[in-house]
Amino acid sequence: MAKGAKIYEGKAKTLYEGPEPGTIIQYFKDDATAFNAEKKDVIDGKGALNNRFSEHFMQGLESIGLPTHFIKRLNMREQLVKRVDIVPLEVIVRNVAAGSMSKRLGIEEGTKLNRPLVEFSYKDDSLGDPLVAEEHILALEWATQRELDEMISMALRVNDFLSGTMHAVGIKLVDFKIEIGRLTENDYQQLVIADEISPDSCRLWDIETGQKLDKDVFRRDLGNLTDAYSEVARRLGLLPKNTTTPKLVK
Ligand code: TMP
Repeated sequence: MAKGAKIYEGKAKTLYEGPEPGTIIQYFKDDATAFNAEKKDVIDGKGALNNRFSEHFMQGLESIGLPTHFIKRLNMREQLVKRVDIVPLEVIVRNVAAGSMSKRLGIEEGTKLNRPLVEFSYKDDSLGDPLVAEEHILALEWATQRELDEMISMALRVNDFLSGTMHAVGIKLVDFKIEIGRLTENDYQQLVIADEISPDSCRLWDIETGQKLDKDVFRRDLGNLTDAYSEVARRLGLLPKNTTTPKLVK
């Protein structure tokens, strides 16, 4: 499918005009960044794996009635999605303390939370995506109260779905981040899950061994990132067993 003009280049994906109005082609790059792009690398195979993961999870969410931006995967690196206005918030759900929460509050990584915790960060790289309270979101009109309530409810449903999916293959869903968009169709506006869902935006720990199978492998120099992602893909049935990471045609 021919790509239209480039709309936006992010750290891990590039967006192009799609073939129909209201569509976008999302191209998954092999670039990996951490700490607001202070650490960077190109990791062969990451883009193709994340394209496949995102397809799998978005389709799964649609199957339980959660609307997403996903239309179809086009090829190894690209998927067709609906054009949405992204709410300028990262919606984070945590089941277990880790990462920035552990650092900020001095809580040991791995401490189980007695209920899932929903956090919001304001999406602004120049500010380092700061954590914000619901009151900031309402006072600054980043979302309405109705949208905020719906985003929390959607995020918790995504958490239930992803936790169950991962648990079934021996993986603990520690936390994840989603982005939500406003989709306008036939004069009707609704919130949908957008962006991507992949091990770039989740923390995934092997239930038996505690081995990290997510982007922390890159952030913390714990080994080969595509090996970790391929292991998750294999367990989910997205890669044939006994295969090595696919080599890509760029
Ligand atoms: P954090 O503990 O660093 O705040 O991360 C929480 C979750 O959000 C974790 O699953 C990783 C994900 N995440 C992103 O997807 N993008 C980001 O830029 C950051 C900082 C975290």
